[in-house]
Amino acid sequence: MFDSLRVPVVVAPMAGGPSTPELVSAAAHAGAFGFLAGGYLSAAGLAGQIATTRERCGDTFGVNLFVPGIRSTVDVRPYAERIGAEARRYGCEPGAARWDDDAYAAKLDLVVAERVPVVSFTFGAPLAADIERLHAAGSAVVVTVTSPAEAQQAAAVGADALCVQGFEAGGHRGLFNDDPAIAAGGELCGLLAALRLISAVTDLPLIAAGGLVHGADVAAVVVAGAVAAQLGTAFLLADEAGTNPVQRRALAEGARPTAFTRAFSGRPARGLVNRFLREYSVPAPAAYPQVNNLTRPIRAAAAAAGDPESMSLWAGQTYPLAHGPAPAAEIIMMLREQAVEALRQGAGRFA
Ligand SMILES: Cc1cc2nc3c(=O)[nH]c(=O)nc-3n(C[C@H](O)[C@H](O)[C@H](O)COP(=O)(O)O)c2cc1C
Repeated sequence: MFDSLRVPVVVAPMAGGPSTPELVSAAAHAGAFGFLAGGYLSAAGLAGQIATTRERCGDTFGVNLFVPGIRSTVDVRPYAERIGAEARRYGCEPGAARWDDDAYAAKLDLVVAERVPVVSFTFGAPLAADIERLHAAGSAVVVTVTSPAEAQQAAAVGADALCVQGFEAGGHRGLFNDDPAIAAGGELCGLLAALRLISAVTDLPLIAAGGLVHGADVAAVVVAGAVAAQLGTAFLLADEAGTNPVQRRALAEGARPTAFTRAFSGRPARGLVNRFLREYSVPAPAAYPQVNNLTRPIRAAAAAAGDPESMSLWAGQTYPLAHGPAPAAEIIMMLREQAVEALRQGAGRFA
């Protein structure tokens, strides 16, 4: 599946705007592979993106979906009250803190009907029966994992490959269960440690994700046994990415540290530190997607006002080194050249 790529680079699915059919098809034409981000889209919206991508690059693409979690029973009201005051700063009302399943069933039916070549999942493993439906449709299935226990669960339900996400990664952690009582026992693993620990419990092909921004990093994870490297942040400044202009500016400045927060969505995600993240990370409850729905109007109002301080500026730890603005093909070509050079130099150290 990924072992035949000319460049072992996967352009990560990035929901909320950055992933576009143009970015995914540019990756395919450059010899890499890209995922559309199905998260937050309606089934009809995703169908449109699949059609546009197919027109542009045939069958070299994948689609990523969010697996719905267990409905949190945490009381969101105290957080909603605080967020109400914040919303008024932006002249808007907070959203309703309701749970939803991101139209998962409809989008799953869609990717089965469309025979999408590769379907990846995050926030959990799909049911074995759903993986069987995807296999019957000819799709390969990738599940994002952050620990050996999650890797074993994904293998047990029939995944064909795993995307191993280290804590360096930008955006949401792919944790199967974000219940703090359960997650507390789980260690946060850096990418190399996660790759090593997970390859000890499964023979499935592993795609490595988290903080990879240079071709030497791509070479490093391939040498460590990964079939490919999945990069998100490295493509946020690509011309074809739909990254919000305010986020582009904050990324290009490179001045802020990154941190994990539940403040925007109720699930831990890594982004650039801004005022909202600083003020609300402590009180934010583990309640996804209720908190995501609650804060949506504030994030939208801040973006419309060009204010980075209340937007979710998702990015991985190495974001200041991301190349761009540039065409995705240029970024992929640069990664390839850097990887070849790093391998040459590295091999010399062991001669
Ligand atoms: C802006 C942004 C949005 C993301 N959205 C998704 C998503 O929709 N689905 C998913 O599986 N991963 C998502 N991720 C995580 C990526 O799949 C990947 O794990 C991460 O980008 C790797 O770390 P890096 O950003 O340092 O390259 C997102 C990452 C970013 C930066």
